[in-house]
Amino acid sequence: MLVEGRDKFQKDPVANLIDLENREVSVAALHDRDLYELEMEKIFAKGWLMLGHDSEIPNVGDYVVRLMGEDQVIVARHSDNTVHVSLNVCPHRAMHICISDSGNARAHKCIYHGWAFRPDGSFIGAPIEKEQMHGTIKPKSELGLKKARCQVYGGLIFATWGGEEAMTLEEWMGDMKFYYDMLFKRTDRGLEVLGPPQRLTIDANWKTAGEQSACDGFHTLTLHQSLLDRGAMVGEAGTEHEKAPAMYGVNLSANGHSLRCIPADTSWSLMAKNPQKDLTDEQRLELMPPPGITKELLPQVKKNLTPEQLHVFAKAPPVVGGMFPNVNMLFIFSPFPDGTLGSALVLHTINPKGPDHFEWVTFFFGEKDASPEYKDMMRQAAAQGTGTSGVIEQDDSDTWPHMSESSRGVIGRTETLKYQAILGENRPADWPNKAKVYAGFSKDDCQWEWWVQYHKMMTA
Ligand code: FES
Ligand SMILES: [Fe+2]
Repeated sequence: MLVEGRDKFQKDPVANLIDLENREVSVAALHDRDLYELEMEKIFAKGWLMLGHDSEIPNVGDYVVRLMGEDQVIVARHSDNTVHVSLNVCPHRAMHICISDSGNARAHKCIYHGWAFRPDGSFIGAPIEKEQMHGTIKPKSELGLKKARCQVYGGLIFATWGGEEAMTLEEWMGDMKFYYDMLFKRTDRGLEVLGPPQRLTIDANWKTAGEQSACDGFHTLTLHQSLLDRGAMVGEAGTEHEKAPAMYGVNLSANGHSLRCIPADTSWSLMAKNPQKDLTDEQRLELMPPPGITKELLPQVKKNLTPEQLHVFAKAPPVVGGMFPNVNMLFIFSPFPDGTLGSALVLHTINPKGPDHFEWVTFFFGEKDASPEYKDMMRQAAAQGTGTSGVIEQDDSDTWPHMSESSRGVIGRTETLKYQAILGENRPADWPNKAKVYAGFSKDDCQWEWWVQYHKMMTA
């Protein structure tokens, strides 16, 4: 299937890999080193990437080191309180400027020859100022760290190497922003991280986790069967949900981003409460606020969301999904072993580390205005369910390496990934006219849209 050498991808990098008509992707796409290098250039060096949250760096000088593709960046708070994203590569001889994951520094000094930089990336100078060890050929203003364009949305820090001519973050999110607002901009002070992120290296191609993040609901029934076995997923008896809990809902897609909205009735079954029909939005929210929201926070939610958003939030709130290319998110109810119900708000980033590895980063969140006790409960629920050793994510991280191993076989890589279970666009009458809407049993629609966006960026 593949011809030799890097030139094989220059004309149409994915012509031999993605069959748009039959909705198939070659397994070889999970392994090829040349394809991987192009992904880094065309997707990770062009698109908007989520790097972290501004609550990780609350004070002037705070910084964290993150990845954009395989480029390390310093995400730092400058003296004027603005957030900056700078390449963690010394313009002198390419040493990493920051060699710790996080910290606080008014100036970042390279440990090799001592060139120093402000949190906004600008160059301060080299040691022994009078000897001008940075030379006289270039002015100091040209010796700062390379800067990415940065934007903070709902506390989340995004950046792109696309420069000022690239699309805005709002354009990048498209219609999905309407739904993301329900997760990230629903309260007055928004979310905060509950501790530093967990990090784990998984021996798999980044796309195995990337495409699953685009609403693969179906795997929950089998791969996560332990959730059903231990009663953490329950469908209302006597209904279509009984054998397939949480499979019926509304999937959403725009620009490769996606979210799954699960009817509140399904969640009520989980709480062993009698499902109550014909309730107003107000009554639904009061009866069982969506994950992460307490009754005390409801007035804020009602103030911050539009009536259209509030209706979706009350009827079928978004609970899982992702952001193209490399964010996975869960805003879920997560039961504890004793049967009580917890809430977990979690974002994962999927950072490529060569074609056969990626770093799986887990951020835990809570609403800033939730009580300390509620946040403690959320931290525990998130760690037990979705953390590095969480009962849910252990299943997924065990699966992705198998797919990647398949792609390394001479015969295995001739197989295809298939996205042929099609629900088709179909919008309930009371659903907002935002994004592509797939109401019904969760099928392959959103995952295929993820690959369509991948194809679009790889061929741009
Ligand atoms: S490599 Fe950084 S000062 Fe020389
Ligand atoms: Fe999963």
